[in-house]
Amino acid sequence: MTETGLPQISQGLDGIYIAESSICKVDGIAGRLYYRGYSIDQLAKNSTYEEVCYLILYGKLPTAIELAEFNKKLVDARPLPPMIIDVINEFANKQDPMDTLRSAVSSLSAYDTDMNDSSEAANLDRSINLISKLGSIVATIGRYMNGGKYIEPNPSMTHTENFLYMLNGKAPDKKDAELLDLMFVLHAEHSSNASTFSTLVAGSTLADLYSAVTSGIAALKGPLHGGADEAALKMMRAIGNPDNTEKYINDALAGKRKIMGFGHRVYKTYDPRATIIKEDLLALQENQSEDVKTLTKIALRAETMMIEKLGKSHGIWPNIDFFAGPIYVSIGIQMEMFTPIFAASRIVGWCSHMMEYWKNNRIFRPLEYYVGPSGLDYVPIKERK
Ligand code: CMC
Repeated sequence: MTETGLPQISQGLDGIYIAESSICKVDGIAGRLYYRGYSIDQLAKNSTYEEVCYLILYGKLPTAIELAEFNKKLVDARPLPPMIIDVINEFANKQDPMDTLRSAVSSLSAYDTDMNDSSEAANLDRSINLISKLGSIVATIGRYMNGGKYIEPNPSMTHTENFLYMLNGKAPDKKDAELLDLMFVLHAEHSSNASTFSTLVAGSTLADLYSAVTSGIAALKGPLHGGADEAALKMMRAIGNPDNTEKYINDALAGKRKIMGFGHRVYKTYDPRATIIKEDLLALQENQSEDVKTLTKIALRAETMMIEKLGKSHGIWPNIDFFAGPIYVSIGIQMEMFTPIFAASRIVGWCSHMMEYWKNNRIFRPLEYYVGPSGLDYVPIKERK
């Protein structure tokens, strides 16, 4: 209670710790990010998505043998059951791909042979299956959206190579697959963000992992969270010409509209993931299409302007979603796929947090301070005006 006798309300749970966790540290003041103690800069430079998944799930970097065994499990889990392909076929061209993804992932429980087994070992197996399957599901959704059909996964490819193969139907360019792998690494985990929290809320009722993850996908969809990468690219497309950037941003801010890809609840400085993506975007300019070059120019002008206007003064800096769009465009990935790809990367974070939370589970049940009327007398329907 505050001095006035009213409860302290933390809108959006701002500043509230919900649990202890040893998975991820976000230092919002210094602009640093660590998965299991390793800095994102080192992981981005040296690691792969498969290795990062192992690290996040098991809490340590794998040996070569452990990684090979883990890879095999991921590869074995890649093929999609016929009913999941049917779900994708039915919905891919009728709704947003995030909605199709939510339905397909939710349906995976039908293939779980023992839903009553809620042991840690069973949930670890489910997590590995989900990490693998989300890649195949998202790629297949993209394929059906473009009139293609399901392609059997290629077991000799890495997770992201296979993703591009199942999406495009041809062996991917090595550099594209490496760039996509980096994007998967950067999106793999980020502490108690809205989608991870949503996963935990659903799972804290002791609902199963599929239900929890489906809740995470639902929360990721919105433009304030995972949907911001698509929204940021839409904005760059609306700006169109780099020379329009300043006017567009000024008009948007004057109209109290948010600039997508900027701002963060925790980072009050440059998001370290945005720094990495920006460096990669600048590094790949030479052989890029005019489209990517134009998008990059717009992004850089918007970045300079936003930092000048809202950076130091308001703590609003570029986040991971701002430079992601031009990178995906350079790989040939369409805008609608950005957020599903975010989900396919973040699945490891959702599963790891859920398993960690279940070790010391307590149902989430916060309070609301009631401000509505009291003591009203019931009026029979005939007497109501
Ligand atoms: N452009 C312009 N103004 C902004 C922005 C922005 N992108 N972000 C925050 N503000 C302003 C906001 O209008 C508010 O101003 P005032 O106090 O005058 O009303 C103030 O800053 C605080 O904003 P808030 O929305 O209350 O802050 P929050 O901590 O609740 O929200 C956020 C954080 C990320 C939702 C928000 O910064 C935002 O909406 N950003 C745009 C969407 C975006 O890029 N989301 C991706 C986040 S990173 C990846 C992920 O986790 O998915």
